[in-house]
Amino acid sequence: MLKLSKLTIAVAAVSMMAACGKKEEAAPAAAPAPAPAAAPAQSTVEVLHWWTSGGEAKSVAELKRIMQDKGHAWKDFAVAGGGGDNAMTVLKSRVVAGNPPAAAQIKGPAIQEWASEGVLANLDETAKAENWDTLLPGVVADVMKYNGNYVAAPVNVHRVNWMWANKAVLDKAGVKAVPTTWPEFFAAADKVKKAGLIAVAHGGQNWQDFTTFEDVVLGVGGTQFYQDAMVKLDAKALTSPTMTKSLETFRKIKSYTDAASPGRDWNLATAMVIQEKAAFQFMGDWAKGEFTAAGKVPGTDYICAAAPGTANAFTFNVDSFAMFKLKDATAQKAQADLAAAIMGTEFQEVFNLNKGSIPVRLNMDMAKFDDCAKLSSNDFVATAKAGGLVPSIAHEMAVPPAVSGAMKDAVSQFWNDDKMSVADGVKNIAKAAATK
Ligand code: BGC
Repeated sequence: MLKLSKLTIAVAAVSMMAACGKKEEAAPAAAPAPAPAAAPAQSTVEVLHWWTSGGEAKSVAELKRIMQDKGHAWKDFAVAGGGGDNAMTVLKSRVVAGNPPAAAQIKGPAIQEWASEGVLANLDETAKAENWDTLLPGVVADVMKYNGNYVAAPVNVHRVNWMWANKAVLDKAGVKAVPTTWPEFFAAADKVKKAGLIAVAHGGQNWQDFTTFEDVVLGVGGTQFYQDAMVKLDAKALTSPTMTKSLETFRKIKSYTDAASPGRDWNLATAMVIQEKAAFQFMGDWAKGEFTAAGKVPGTDYICAAAPGTANAFTFNVDSFAMFKLKDATAQKAQADLAAAIMGTEFQEVFNLNKGSIPVRLNMDMAKFDDCAKLSSNDFVATAKAGGLVPSIAHEMAVPPAVSGAMKDAVSQFWNDDKMSVADGVKNIAKAAATK
């Protein structure tokens, strides 16, 4: 539970200042805002999000433009910090203080938790008028609803189990084929190391550690094991030999990262791959937004491939915005316009072209999308049919925030402490998964 009442305003305010004060390094400024629309602003819509990297800022600028075109003033409430932990801390403090933003980037089971606090607005009128029930995959619509009512609007589908590779670096190191299994991956990584380059660009933050970890569990154990251990949190699966093997593989990856990885932001790790300093990065396809913003072309400059052993699976991460209950009628109108814009075809195309994700709205024309997005789109449909579509824990799609938070801490402790035995790592993660 969010336990809003237990948060003191003072503590939250301090963390808010800390989080707001943190600047994402080397994040280019958002694209210049277009000239204000001719119509007078009907209402100011304040939107909390954590999209501050180059590709992310370009993407959210499109939403701002669309809202301005509808005559609304946009108040940007960006809280830097990949994965959104900082943003969620700041959001809690604003809600506790009785001053929520109009909309906030909230996703997965957290949507249910916020709705159960009674603070979210009902979006059914817009959803009905715009036919959301027929335009959304059922698995997504269910997450957006609380007690059968829409309380959040989905933006996209990110695939998390990607491996990004720099083509020139692979050529330099003599890696002929993109690795598709973990043994192949380690053989390729050895070659990169020998060539004097960094094999794995990694950002040592707990959500990034976990992003790599869940790729490994999926690749080593397969979809059913991932479901049992990471989604159902089955104690037997969590303490099985497959989990031991997963942790061994995970630890081995660390030996291919550079010494400067602790604390590094994800987009700086992506920049290492873009700039030919590193060969690979394990990251969701928001990383593609960085390649795109840098003018790089998939297949020519870089490669997108499923993380080793995960080609028949798809870890999904759906971004969405929940709206907070506001009293003012013009503010409510702005929220309805925002919800409609998010699910509209214009936004779904232009936002996702920049963001690296694929539209969540069904039957969108994919003509303008690149090969990585087309592969993602095909795999999303195929894995949904065959049973390989699984929620990402690292990106808060699978289990309540309290559980995923404890699991992330346990995984990062193992990653950071080379002296911790694999057996202790397994034990700690299983204990964290039992958090109530
Ligand atoms: C979000 C993405 C975002 C990424 C890095 C993920 O959890 O879903 O939209 O780009 O974090 O900040």
